[in-house]
Amino acid sequence: MCGIFGVVGTKDNASKLVFAGLKDIEYRGYDSWGISFFTDNRFKTLKKIGFLPKSLNLVSSTLSIGHTRWATHGGVTDENAHPHMDCTNKLTLVHNGIFENYLELKNTLKNHKFKSQTDTEVIIHLIEEQLKSQPLAEAVATVFNKLQGLNAVVVSDGKDIVACKIGSPLVVGRTKNGFIIASDPNAILQHTSELIFLEDGQQVILNSSLELFDLKTSAEIKPQFTKVKWEYAGENLKDFPHFMLKEIYEQPQVLYNQIQNLENIENIAQEIKKAFGTYFIGCGSAGYACILGEYLFSQITKKHVNFALGSEFNYTEHFLTDKSLLIAISQSGETIDIVEPVSSAMKKGVKVVALTNTLGSTLYRMSDIKMMLQAGPEKAVASTKALLAMIANILLLSFAVAGKLKEGVDVIEKSVKEIESILQKKDLIQKLAIKIHKVRHIYVLGRGLSYPVALESALKIKEVSYIHAEGLAGGELKHGPIALIEKGTPVIVYVPDDETKGAILANAMEVKARGAYIIGVAAENNQLYDYFFQVSDCRASSVLPNIVFAQFLGYFLATKLGYNPDKPRNLAKSVTVK
Ligand code: F6R
Repeated sequence: MCGIFGVVGTKDNASKLVFAGLKDIEYRGYDSWGISFFTDNRFKTLKKIGFLPKSLNLVSSTLSIGHTRWATHGGVTDENAHPHMDCTNKLTLVHNGIFENYLELKNTLKNHKFKSQTDTEVIIHLIEEQLKSQPLAEAVATVFNKLQGLNAVVVSDGKDIVACKIGSPLVVGRTKNGFIIASDPNAILQHTSELIFLEDGQQVILNSSLELFDLKTSAEIKPQFTKVKWEYAGENLKDFPHFMLKEIYEQPQVLYNQIQNLENIENIAQEIKKAFGTYFIGCGSAGYACILGEYLFSQITKKHVNFALGSEFNYTEHFLTDKSLLIAISQSGETIDIVEPVSSAMKKGVKVVALTNTLGSTLYRMSDIKMMLQAGPEKAVASTKALLAMIANILLLSFAVAGKLKEGVDVIEKSVKEIESILQKKDLIQKLAIKIHKVRHIYVLGRGLSYPVALESALKIKEVSYIHAEGLAGGELKHGPIALIEKGTPVIVYVPDDETKGAILANAMEVKARGAYIIGVAAENNQLYDYFFQVSDCRASSVLPNIVFAQFLGYFLATKLGYNPDKPRNLAKSVTVK
């Protein structure tokens, strides 16, 4: 989603650092960008639609703030891009989030000139108005306290940078030349590892020093820097043409990482055993990992766990008690549809386990028990290695609760070998992509454990290739979707060697009889298949290599069609708005 990066310091390279910082967060997805820099006693602002250029001639300055925008209020135009200025061009502001009562507050402003259709621009004019009676930091606090919704704002008058947040991440780094503020800690790490993660309801003032306040009480808070030990995840493709491909290739190592230290798994398994009701929540691919959790727990531990999409959980959580356990799964740890239900569940005394790939993220900080996915930074927008790490952990948890953790480790090791063999024969999947890249629809069928695999496969294909793909439980075909099958429609069918085999083959026959082009992903060939891709049986962990097949297919379809799989249109890596 939107990204923020700001610098105030003693060196005159602030605007250059901001430009480089925006480049570091561009993987999160955006449609326009802008930079304000203070020079000759005034702000200059550059704004553009589309991607950041490779380099930009920027004027020297010691203070600068920039933003990558993912449009919510108002179309993608230069005027709507941030930073936004007040009527006098003396103040500049960037904003992440959605300011829900902006129309009501806009109506209180008289004689202000608006240049954009955004909610954000209202904030800077409100601050301009408030400055008539208060100094900058107080004016920003007064205005911020009136905003409804989850927001982070960073404002400057050329002397100070003032920032506040509720629900949208902001982190400050201390360097030897000053301070950096950003919405993503990874963008700061190449400059410093001394960070402060702002908490909700805090305000920070940055100039030659740093002051921290509580927004409601105005009480000063002693700043505590954390020295983080993470590595900077810069633009390093090695020899790969895209991050998506690089990250697909990293998966054997990522899975291997998951079985190195099982102490956390054992601890969380104890919590599951103790809990009166365990709920898994996630969104998108992470949501499919949660669905898989329900099947895995049922099969391996004979225990029911519940799953819900993060965005729906608030509507069905009325049964939570202080004996419930919530396992929240999120690569970014910033997805608002996870952070919000977690926070309301915590108010009911629910214990929360976070499974995330991002140290220091909002989810990581708020949860009672924290577990890192150890997948390393995921830069491509479409999730690959982080999802496999999520699934591996859920699988290990189900084996651990059943008291058979060693067996869980064995099946994961087996799947690692199988994935390595898929990496060797990816050309076969590329050939398939070349054959089917002109189609408009692809259907993916699975039953049991392969049902969430079918959902994930369809998501991977559609989000990067823009071909409509639909994942279906094989049994649901006859209840409607079979009407869409025509001569030549590709239907991917997952046929693992498990209890679903007979029934899913029957479903394949049904669509074959209507002219479908059957792509069988299975341990053994079958005369039904028009195309066969072999994935050896790895028992419960067959889901992992099966997903890798679909990742490659999505990737090759996208590249064949001329799309950049790392930055799919309209999507963002970290979904911080509802
Ligand atoms: C799909 C994808 C998304 C994310 C979803 C949740 O390839 O990447 O569906 O899985 O937006 O994101 P996190 O895991 O950051 O909460």
